[in-house]
Amino acid sequence: MAEASFTPRVFSGIQPSGDLHLGNYLGAIRRFVEMQATGVETVYCMVDLHAITVWQDPADLARSTRTLCAGFLAAGIDPEKSILINQSQVPEHAQLAWIFNCVARMGWMQRMTQFKDKVGKNAQNASLGLFAYPALMAADILIYHATHVPVGEDQKQHVELTRDIAAKFNHDYGVEFFPMTKPVIEGAATRVMSLRDGAKKMSKSDPSDASRINMMDDAGTIAKKIRRAKTDPDALPSEADGLEERPEARNLVNIYAGLNDQTVDQVLAEMGGRQFSEFKPMLADLAVSKLAPISTEMTRLLDDPGEIDRILASGAQRARAITAPILARTYEIVGMVGPV
Ligand code: TYM
Repeated sequence: MAEASFTPRVFSGIQPSGDLHLGNYLGAIRRFVEMQATGVETVYCMVDLHAITVWQDPADLARSTRTLCAGFLAAGIDPEKSILINQSQVPEHAQLAWIFNCVARMGWMQRMTQFKDKVGKNAQNASLGLFAYPALMAADILIYHATHVPVGEDQKQHVELTRDIAAKFNHDYGVEFFPMTKPVIEGAATRVMSLRDGAKKMSKSDPSDASRINMMDDAGTIAKKIRRAKTDPDALPSEADGLEERPEARNLVNIYAGLNDQTVDQVLAEMGGRQFSEFKPMLADLAVSKLAPISTEMTRLLDDPGEIDRILASGAQRARAITAPILARTYEIVGMVGPV
């Protein structure tokens, strides 16, 4: 397919479930802000329909959606420059997802590692929505003909599946309608790990709050979590090779590099030889200096939830100007009879 025929457009989403954490910030939101600055059209989404694939208390879901929106805004997403939406206000996402449910194959879904990790041995009890989740994610992206999707490493397989769905749709219907979207996985912190276990990803579903830094944590809590973060007894190496087999050390260096917009090599050139007793307080100071202004701004924005709701309603209107014609054309390609 001639990818060049698609105007570049960026789409990405975050689930409004639980608190935003440092992994979401470094792996995703920081990149969102950078891409917004390039002048390409950017669409960022609070994926509330995805969130309910596991149980969400309704009041908590509404609160998390507004808090996530405040997080986007506080981190630098400008609703004039980017289209900021919650998924359920743009019904074309779910409508296209149904078509994709009929394009994607059961075997493709069964291979999704996130699904397998989430359900463990209890697949029979998982919701049908959790299984079909990646088809909705493909629809989120392709209903905008998005060409680039900034995500953390854990979402790579889902973006690859999005390409498979686009290719099968195009092939089955003999069209070149959906683009081959590229995942954009960049920066030093594309996979931020748990502070308690360097083999596990930092995640909102980890039962231990000490495993993650939440965007709304206060300075004392951030410092305490970093002080208690698991490490090894050795000093920091002066080159990246020296972090092999040292997952916890590597994670803290990646976090430092991500927060400070440096490469791992730059950080180690400066920090090599230091003990964690020295490095951890420096990391804590850096994290507080970057995160405190964001959480202060989030608190201020959350004082006026009406304004957040207005931003999301206006985002949905702008989004639908893009999604409605793409859905209409999809229906036409598929053979659905519609208004003339
Ligand atoms: P979610 O809500 O789990 O995570 C949101 C974004 O944060 C990134 N992320 C991380 N990055 C680095 N280290 C971590 N520990 C870490 N944890 C999370 C994720 O990679 C993601 O970029 N299925 C998606 C949401 C989604 C979506 C989409 C994304 C729905 N539709 C369309 C892109 C395009 C999810 O559950 O992300």
